[in-house]
Amino acid sequence: MKYSIIIAVSLFALLISGCEDKPVPTPHITTPYEIEIPFGFPTKLNIPEDNPMTVEGIELGRYLFYDGRMSGRIHPDSLMSCATCHIQANSFECGINHPEYIGGFTHGITGKPTPHVMLPMINLVWNSYGYLWNGLISDDNPNQNFRNIEDLVWMGIVAEHEMNSDTNLAKETIQNIQGYPELFKKAFDSETVTMKNMSRAIAQFVRTLISANSKFDRYMQGEVQLTQSELNGYVLFTTEEGADCFHCHGGFGNPLFTTHLYYNNGKDTEFTDPRDRFAITGDPMDHGAYKAPTLRNIEVQGPYMHDGRFATLEEVIDFYSHNLQNSPYINPLMHHINNGGIQLTPTEKEDLLNFIKTLRDDDFIMNEKFSAPDKFPDEI
Ligand code: HEC
Ligand code: HEC
Repeated sequence: MKYSIIIAVSLFALLISGCEDKPVPTPHITTPYEIEIPFGFPTKLNIPEDNPMTVEGIELGRYLFYDGRMSGRIHPDSLMSCATCHIQANSFECGINHPEYIGGFTHGITGKPTPHVMLPMINLVWNSYGYLWNGLISDDNPNQNFRNIEDLVWMGIVAEHEMNSDTNLAKETIQNIQGYPELFKKAFDSETVTMKNMSRAIAQFVRTLISANSKFDRYMQGEVQLTQSELNGYVLFTTEEGADCFHCHGGFGNPLFTTHLYYNNGKDTEFTDPRDRFAITGDPMDHGAYKAPTLRNIEVQGPYMHDGRFATLEEVIDFYSHNLQNSPYINPLMHHINNGGIQLTPTEKEDLLNFIKTLRDDDFIMNEKFSAPDKFPDEI
C-alpha cells in the first residue's frame, strides 16, 4: 500500500515533469540587415533569395573572411584566408607594393600564381552581370555551382592557386574552433558547420563592402567643390569628344563607375588567353574581352588590367591616349581607334588623372566594420 502510494505520486510527478520538459520549439530569430542605398545609387541589389542578409550572418562572415584557418589547416605556415590576398587598404586587392605578391601578382599557398591579377571588392551587391574578369561566375551560368559570390568561397578553398585545400577539411577545422558553432547557431540555426553556411556568411559580409563617400560623391551631394583641374577631368571622362571613358566605366548617371560588362579595349592584336570572355560565351567578338572594372578607389588598385601590364594610372592614360591596338575584335565603343587613341595633351592627361583620383574613398579603406576583427571567436 505504502509503496503503491509512492509509485502513484512519483508517476504523477513524472507525468508533470514530462509535460514541462517537452521541448517547446523556440523560433530562430535573426536580425535583418538593411542595405542603405547611397545617394544616386541604383535600388536593384543582387542578394540571392536563399541568403538574406542578417546582422548575425555578417558578423560570422567577417570572422571567416579573416580567419586563416579557413584553409583547413592550423599550422602557422599554412594559414590562408580571403584577406591574405583581399586587403582592405588596397580596396580588397593585394596592392602593388605587397612584400610577397611582388608587383601585385598573387599566388596560392603552394606558390602557384593566379592566372590573372586581382579584382577589388567594392559595391559588388550591385553587380548582376557576373564575377571575375571573364564573368565565369554568373546568374546565367547553367551550372548551379558557379553563380554568385557564395560560389567563390568554395572555389577559393579548393583552387590550387589559392588555398589548395578541401572543403571537408575547412568545415571540420572551423567546427572544432571554440566559439564558431555558437555563431553558426545564431546565424543559421544550426551548430553544424556546413560549406553552404560558411559561403553564405562570407558572401553576406562581402555584400556589405560599400564605397560611396569619395570626394566625387561629396561633390555630387554639394558638400565639397572639385578643383578646376578635377572638373575639367570629369568633363573629359564623360564626353565622347573628350577622353570617352564613360560608356564602359560609367560616371554619368552611373555612380558605380562600371557597367559590369565585358569589352576588348584595344590592348593587343592577338588573343591567346584561355580565360578571356570568349572562353565563357564562345562569341568571336569576345576575344580579348574582359570586365571593365569599377574605377572607384582605382588609385590603390594597381597593377592595372587583367594581366597587370600597367603599373601606374599614368601608364593607363598614356595607353588610352596614344597606344591603342586595332583588331577585328576591338569594341566599337573604342571610338578613337583610328587615331590610335584619344590623343590627350599633357594638361588633359593631368586633369583626367586628377578627376580619377577623386574616386578614392578613404572611409571605405579605413572603415572598421570591414577590417579584421580584434579577436577570433576562440580568443573571446
Ligand atoms: C591567392 C589569393 C586569393 C585568395 C586567397 C582569395 N582570392 Fe578572391 N580573387 C583573387 C584573384 C586573383 C581574383 C581575380 C580572379 C580572376 O578573375 O581571374 C579574385 C576575385 C575574387 C572575386 C571577384 C570580384 C569581382 O568583381 O568579380 C571575389 C568576390 C572574390 N575573389 C572573393 C574571394 C573570397 C570570398 C575569398 C575567400 C574564400 C577569396 N576571394 C580568396 C585572389 C584571391
Ligand atoms: C570600350 C570600353 C572601355 C572604354 C571606352 C574605356 N575602358 Fe577602361 N577598361 C575597359 C576594360 C574592358 C578594362 C579591363 C581590360 C583588361 O583587363 O584587359 C579596362 C580597364 C581600365 C583600367 C584598369 C582597371 C583595373 O582594375 O585594372 C583603368 C584605370 C581604365 N580602364 C580607365 C579608363 C579610362 C580613363 C578611360 C577613358 C580614357 C577608359 N578606361 C575607357 C573598358 C573600357
